[in-house]
Amino acid sequence: MNTGTLWVSASPHGEDALGNRLVRALLDVSEAVTLRDLVAAPLAPLTPDYAAALTLRDVPSEKTEALSLSERLIGELESTRRLIVTTPMHNFGMPAALKLWVDYVLRIHRTFTSTPLGKVGLLEDRPTLVIVSSGGFHQTGESRQPNFLTPHLRAILATLGIHSVEFCYLEGLVTRRGAPDDMIAEALEAHPLMAWKSQPIAPWLG
Ligand SMILES: Cc1cc2nc3c(=O)[nH]c(=O)nc-3n(C[C@H](O)[C@H](O)[C@H](O)COP(=O)(O)O)c2cc1C
Repeated sequence: MNTGTLWVSASPHGEDALGNRLVRALLDVSEAVTLRDLVAAPLAPLTPDYAAALTLRDVPSEKTEALSLSERLIGELESTRRLIVTTPMHNFGMPAALKLWVDYVLRIHRTFTSTPLGKVGLLEDRPTLVIVSSGGFHQTGESRQPNFLTPHLRAILATLGIHSVEFCYLEGLVTRRGAPDDMIAEALEAHPLMAWKSQPIAPWLG
């Protein structure tokens, strides 16, 4: 049975990132969380053999380093029953580090299949929380920029088979960085995040 939570963090601010601080306020870190920190331990760029494995009809049977890494990252998703993603908005979309993780886990014939009706995910659905931090505003009335991150990441997760996704936005960090505790308290109040706190989860793995 799958247990625990996979936490994928894509912020260059590491532990100081507001999204990551919010997660630590939610989760008891003595409980089991697999942390995949895409900035502290960057993933290698995609290689020709990996691209070939995903696009050629006659895929070489040998397991290359890139395919092994892909298997390890997919295994982290398969062995956990909840997913948390903390990510900044970079240039209206997801940061490159998170996109690279997507390129390793969204794999045809492995985590999704292509049908006449479209792409169908092969992973189990699970409660998923995506916390997006942004320097400016893109959701609220003050918004002056597009948000391509939400529809893009939602489509990717759906293609994996993950549909139970909740987005939480920490906006305006450039002007509000001085009041991080207030922002965390506001986010906890504005979103049904406490449901996440009450879930029993397993020991800290990574
Ligand atoms: C390369 C880069 C691009 C950014 N692009 C945007 C953007 O398009 N919109 C925005 O509101 N903030 C943008 N920001 C600001 C970040 O979203 C902001 O610093 C946010 O607080 C980062 O979250 P973090 O603390 O989790 O790292 C950008 C920052 C960087 C470094």
